[in-house]
Order: sequence, then C-alpha cells, then structure tokens
Amino acid sequence: MTPQITTAAPLVPDNPTLTSLRDVAAGCRACDLWKTGTQTVFGGGAREAQVMLVGEQPGDREDVSGEPFVGPAGKLLDHALEEAGIGRRAAYVTNVVKHFKWEAKGKRRIHKKPNLQEITACRPWLDAEIAVVRPKVIVCLGATAAQALLGKDFRVSRQRGRFVDSPLAPFVTATVHPSSILRGSPESRAAELRDFVADLSRVPPVL
Ligand code: URA
Ligand code: SF4
Repeated sequence: MTPQITTAAPLVPDNPTLTSLRDVAAGCRACDLWKTGTQTVFGGGAREAQVMLVGEQPGDREDVSGEPFVGPAGKLLDHALEEAGIGRRAAYVTNVVKHFKWEAKGKRRIHKKPNLQEITACRPWLDAEIAVVRPKVIVCLGATAAQALLGKDFRVSRQRGRFVDSPLAPFVTATVHPSSILRGSPESRAAELRDFVADLSRVPPVL
C-alpha cells in the first residue's frame, strides 16, 4: 500500500483569487502545524505584483499578526527592497510553509525548520499564489525556499544572485534569508546586507 500523502491540494478552489485562497487557507489542516500555530499566515501583496519573494515560514511576530514579513526579518527585507529599487507595491511576499513551526525555549518560541512532509503539504498554496500573481520574477529567500522551488541540490552559498531556468516564472533567483543576516555578528552584518541588496538589485533591470 502506498502511504497516504496529505497535501492542501484538495482545498485549492477552481479559478482562485488571492482573496478566496486566503479565506480557504485560513482553515487548512493538511499538516499538523495548524495545531500549534495561531493562524495561517498567507502571502501578502498585490495581484499585479511583478516580483514574488518567498521565505521559509512565518515567524513569531507573523504568527501573531497574521501577515508575512512584519517582524525583524521583514523590516530588514523592506529596507533592502527599497535600497534595491523594488517598490513595496511591486512585491508580493509569501512563504513556503504558512504556519509558524516552533519549540518552546523558556518563555520564548524558537523557530523550527519545517520538514519535507510539511513543505509538501503546504506547497499547493504557494503554487496557487504563483498561478494567480504570475510574477515576472521569483526570489527565493534562503535554503528552504530555494530547495523547495529549485531542487534539493541548490546551494544558495554558491548560486545566489543568478537567474536560473525554471518553469515557475521568466526570471527565478535565490539569495540568503534576511534572518540569517540578523543572526550574523554585528561586524558581518553590513557586508551581508550589502551582498543581499546586490542580489536584489539584479531584479529591477529585468522588470
Ligand atoms: N521569516 C520568513 O521566512 N517569513 C516570514 O514571514 C517572516 C520571517
Ligand atoms: Fe495547511 Fe500549510 Fe498550515 Fe500545514 S502549514 S496546516 S499545509 S497551511
């Protein structure tokens, strides 16, 4: 018997809109993360957005607010987008996994990496977002997004900032996750931010 693989696919409506997707995803229980997350954190941005930025999963702040990239990593991302000349209105931001996965450490909730089963379960939401927005450029932020979208052999450290052939969009690339810059030492941060902005700066010329 083949093992049952549960995904969100049966929930995705025909002819979806961002609003209908968001509404249905709010009740998703395709993996166990809904039990410990506060709410589904769906992507955000305009349907007309030309650039889609894909992170790993919502963080603590996003879990509470229900919106993606509103915490410290989101602030850094906003700043870098502005530096790179990508208007906030041109950008749609989302995540590979739409519930916050965490473990308790004292009173804090520490981010825990989603596993392949959770990534697979949640993938239909991301595919539906891509189908509705049809971005010209997709930017994977960090290894989880890059490996989910570009294959498990993709290495951000070696391949960041380059456009790669992909059926997902005319231009697809990957760079580091903004959280990784925040985790770095204060001395390394300026250089890492500069490299992050340099990667994002490749986007406006192809829009
Ligand atoms: N990190 C992510 O990958 N996504 C968010 O929405 C916030 C932090
Ligand atoms: Fe559904 Fe994704 Fe949440 Fe799992 S993480 S319950 S697949 S929305």
